[in-house]
Amino acid sequence: MADQPFLTDIKTLRERARQHIENGAVTEGYRADRETVIKLLNEALATEIVCTLRYRRHYFMASGINAESVAAEFLQHANEEQGHADQIAQRIVQLQGEPNFNPEGLLMRSHAEYVEGTTLIDMIKEDLVAERIAIDSYREMINYLGQDDPTSRRMMEDILAVEEEHADDLVNMLQKMG
Ligand SMILES: [Fe+2]
Ligand SMILES: [Fe+2]
Repeated sequence: MADQPFLTDIKTLRERARQHIENGAVTEGYRADRETVIKLLNEALATEIVCTLRYRRHYFMASGINAESVAAEFLQHANEEQGHADQIAQRIVQLQGEPNFNPEGLLMRSHAEYVEGTTLIDMIKEDLVAERIAIDSYREMINYLGQDDPTSRRMMEDILAVEEEHADDLVNMLQKMG
């Protein structure tokens, strides 16, 4: 024990691992409140789905002189939000939870809003607001997860970094368009 002060002794580790093997990746050492983490991840999942839908709407509706390059950006963001949704759903299952894809209540669970917007500028602004909401709520989630669930935390950190890139892309587009 003295040689490895931060580790449970190997015998205990081995014994514990054999108990409740049906829980898969969730071991006895899992320190977070699993139910709360699943609930938070389902809110993030709803946020990603709403953002996917909004970006896709904007992609198809983009028109005007700057439409082509902006639409391409909308589509790229839509696909990246879809990728985030998939990552989050996968993690929920690893935690022995169920990803909530129910359209009913989707907007209530989501942090970000679904605003269609009329002009290209409106759409970009609404997407930027949604990204800023996601950025703040994901940052809070990351702080909450702390050291208790490093895998979920790291996943959310990676997603947060992409949302920050999205926000940066959008603000640059706004600037270019005056
Ligand atoms: Fe995302
Ligand atoms: Fe995003």
